[in-house]
Amino acid sequence: MKLVVPSEITAGERRVSITPDCVPALLKMGFDVFVEKDAGIKSSYTDDHYKKSGAKICLRPKDLYNKASIVVKIQRPINFKNINEYNFLKGCELLTLLYEQKFTKEFNLLKKLKINVFALEKMPRISRAQSMDVLSSQSNLAGYKAVIDAASEFNKAFPLMMTSAGTVAPAKVLVIGAGVAGLQAIATAKRLGSVVFAFDVRSSTKEQVESLGAKFVEVENDGDSGETSAGYAKEMSKSYKKKQNVVLHETLKKVDIVITTALIPGKDAPKLISKKMLESMKVGSIVMDLASEFGGNCELTKHGETVDFKSKKIIGPKNLASTVSQDSSRLFSKNVVNFLMNSCESGKFKSFNWDDEVVKETCVIRNLTNPKQRGP
Ligand code: NAI
Repeated sequence: MKLVVPSEITAGERRVSITPDCVPALLKMGFDVFVEKDAGIKSSYTDDHYKKSGAKICLRPKDLYNKASIVVKIQRPINFKNINEYNFLKGCELLTLLYEQKFTKEFNLLKKLKINVFALEKMPRISRAQSMDVLSSQSNLAGYKAVIDAASEFNKAFPLMMTSAGTVAPAKVLVIGAGVAGLQAIATAKRLGSVVFAFDVRSSTKEQVESLGAKFVEVENDGDSGETSAGYAKEMSKSYKKKQNVVLHETLKKVDIVITTALIPGKDAPKLISKKMLESMKVGSIVMDLASEFGGNCELTKHGETVDFKSKKIIGPKNLASTVSQDSSRLFSKNVVNFLMNSCESGKFKSFNWDDEVVKETCVIRNLTNPKQRGP
């Protein structure tokens, strides 16, 4: 079976879906791996690295997509300038990040093709699927990079420093949302020597936050865990939100940097930092809003832009995982390999295991009932 790795042509995307270290595992499963020329170069993986690992390098579209069985991408296919990726996918099974609720046009285009599509962001959050969970692997790195980028924008140092000329006070960081990205942001900010506070509506995160050495910002919750049965945050009551506003407002006055990561699946990001709160923050402070793609946690956030408001910066970063593409690609690739491995029988991949929850939940388009197993 032919597995294809195209270059990502979406603007700003530096990652590659399969990295050379994963090629031997794919060959072992019975795939022939075809990689587009220079597909990995923006993540520092050269064609030579791929060739040495056993992959074949080819040009798009001539040899690359011909008789392809599985195409693995990071970004959903696009029709850009003179390249229409939809034209190459007929008869394939496509693995990609899709977000069909947000990108309905692309989803409808894919539905018209005779293909199967697996939206990797739909990987169920169950223990067995942790090694296939692309959202976690990419959020982890985004949480780390958010702190590094905020630190480089900040005009003060992060750690406490005792110098002969005087003492430098440590920076104070507040992380809002202690999920995967938030916990990594807390750990990174701690490693850089700052004093870290964190807040989440899910009370179960208190212990995790404290185990990383941060102070949990408490909001009285009348015994409500703030969590759905699936372990995600739920929409809180009006009275809780009122209390939360007061506590956040007070905390924001004393911090230098805020990393926001709060999301509720399937909804716009909750607005947690109002213009009024920003007014009372210290001059020079920074809000790094990781929820900007979903509308932002701060009232003034603009996705992909930095907004200056009364000498405070509100940053809406675009695709942070892509800025650490060497590692994010490697983890994404490993997630994909584990996903394919999950359907293998005696180590060989013949077809997806349609009885498996992991396969059923991620497959958002199933137009091929019996995909052909074509040789290259
Ligand atoms: P997410 O990206 O959906 O949300 C980020 C964080 O924002 C969450 O911790 C959420 O509680 C918080 N949040 C939402 N609304 C908020 C508000 N108004 N104020 C403050 N915080 C708010 O979450 P993520 O990172 O995807 O993780 C969600 C859950 O899934 C967690 O319980 C995590 O431990 C679990 N998980 C399980 C995995 C597995 O078993 N395979 C893998 C990854 C995560």
